Amino acid sequence: MTEERTVTVLVAVHAPGEEAAVVTVLGAQQRVVVARRCAELPELLASAEAGAGTAAVVSGDLPGLDREAVARLRVAGLRVVAVEDATTPADRLAALGCDVVVAAGDAENLVAAVRGAAPEIVVPPQPEPLPGLGGRRGAVVAVWGPQGSPGRTTTAIELAAALAGIAAAPVRRSGLLRRPRAATRPAGADTALLADADTYASSVTSRLGLLDDAPGLAAAARAAGQGALDVVTLARHSPVVLPGVRVLTGITRASRWPELPAASLEVVFQRCRELVSWTVVDCGPVLESDELITYDTRAPQRNGATLSALQAADVVVVVGGADPVGMQRLVRGLEDLRDTDVPVSGARVVVVNRVRDAAVGRRAETQVRDALARYAGVDDVHLVPDDPGGLDAALLAGRVLAECAPASPARTAFLGLADRVRDLVPALV
Ligand SMILES: Nc1ncnc2c1ncn2[C@@H]1O[C@H](COP(=O)(O)OP(=O)(O)OP(=O)(O)O)[C@@H](O)[C@H]1O
Ligand SMILES: [Mg+2]
Repeated sequence: MTEERTVTVLVAVHAPGEEAAVVTVLGAQQRVVVARRCAELPELLASAEAGAGTAAVVSGDLPGLDREAVARLRVAGLRVVAVEDATTPADRLAALGCDVVVAAGDAENLVAAVRGAAPEIVVPPQPEPLPGLGGRRGAVVAVWGPQGSPGRTTTAIELAAALAGIAAAPVRRSGLLRRPRAATRPAGADTALLADADTYASSVTSRLGLLDDAPGLAAAARAAGQGALDVVTLARHSPVVLPGVRVLTGITRASRWPELPAASLEVVFQRCRELVSWTVVDCGPVLESDELITYDTRAPQRNGATLSALQAADVVVVVGGADPVGMQRLVRGLEDLRDTDVPVSGARVVVVNRVRDAAVGRRAETQVRDALARYAGVDDVHLVPDDPGGLDAALLAGRVLAECAPASPARTAFLGLADRVRDLVPALV
C-alpha cells in the first residue's frame, strides 16, 4: 500500500458558521492541513495559483464564484470541493465544473472529498430531452478563415440557412420579385443556430438586420459561467430569426471580448447541441493563444472564443479568398490550424470564396484547385463563385440569399457545401 499524502486545503466558505464547521472537521483529520482560510475569491485564486494548496473547499454563495474561477482552480492543480448552501443547489455547483459537491454538514463525505477518495457525489444535470431532436445531440460546425475578410460570416450565415432548409416562399404576385421574399422551410427539416464568436469584428447582427443591444452569446456565456445555462435559458437568448434558425448575436464592441471566456463557451456549445441540430459558429480570424505573448496562462484569452469553437467542432469549415493574397493566407492558415494549442479534431472542409477570373486569371476554378493541391495538399476544395449581385442584395436587405436572390450562383454553392457538411456528420449522435 502506498503511503497517503498530506492534503493541503484552501477553505473559502462564505457563511461564517459553515466555514468554522468545515475548518473544525478538516483540522481534526490526520494528513489534512487547512493551509489558508480565504475570505474572498481573489484571495483563494491567488493562493491557489501560488501553489498553496492541493484542494479547495468552496461554497456556492462565495461572491464571484463562476465557471471560469473553478477552471482556474483546476488549472492550478486543485481538486475543487463545493459545499451546498441554501441558495445554490448541487446541480448548479456541478455545472460550475466542481469535482465534488457535498451537502452542508456532511463531514464524512467532505473529508473523503478533499482526500480525493469520494466518488462524484452529484450527477451532472441531465439535459432536458428536446422534442425537436428526439433526444439526439446536434453537431457543431466552426467557420474559420484567415484575416482579410475572405467570407467567414457570409459562409456561416448561408450555411446555417441551408442546413435548416431555408427556401424562398413561392411568389404570389409578380412585382414582388425585387423585394425580399418570405422564407420558408420543409416541415421536419433540421434546425440551426448561428453563433457569432468573432471577437474582432462581429457582424451577424447587421448582416441579418437585427438590433445589437444585447449580445446573445455573451448573455449565454454569462449564464454558463454561473452554472445556470439550461436549454430553456439558451433558447431565450437565441431568438428565431428565420424559420428554424436561431441566432446568438456577437459582442457589440471588440473591447468586450472578455465576455466570451472559453470555459463558459464550452458549456454554451454543449447546450446548443441539445437545442438544435446544427450550431454554426462564425469565428474570429486569429488563432494564437495569448499566453504565448503574456506568459500568463490564467489571463482571459482574446482568441479563446474561436479556439473553443474549433475545439468543439465536428466540422471545421476553412474559408479563404480566391485572389493571390487570400490564397497565400489560406495556405498559411491551414498550417496554423494544424498547430493550434487546442486539439482540433473535426473534419475539415476547405472553401475558396469569390472565385473569379479577374483576380486569379483564366480558368480560375482549375487554377485554385491546382494551387491548393500543390501548396496545401488539399484536393477536395469547395468553390464559391464571386456573386456581387446576390450578396450585395442580401447585404442591403439584411436577409439571406434564399430571400433575396434564390437563384444566385453563390447560394447554389452554399447549398452544395451544406450537403457536404451533412455527409461528414451522417447521423446526429
Ligand atoms: N461569394 C461572394 N461574392 C460576392 N461578395 C461576397 C461573397 N462572399 C462574401 N462577399 C462579400 O464580401 C464581404 C466580406 O464578407 P464577410 O463579411 O462574409 O467576410 P468575413 O471573412 O466575415 O469578414 P470580417 O473580417 O469582417 O469578419 C461582404 O461584403 C460580403 O457581402
Ligand atoms: Mg465576419
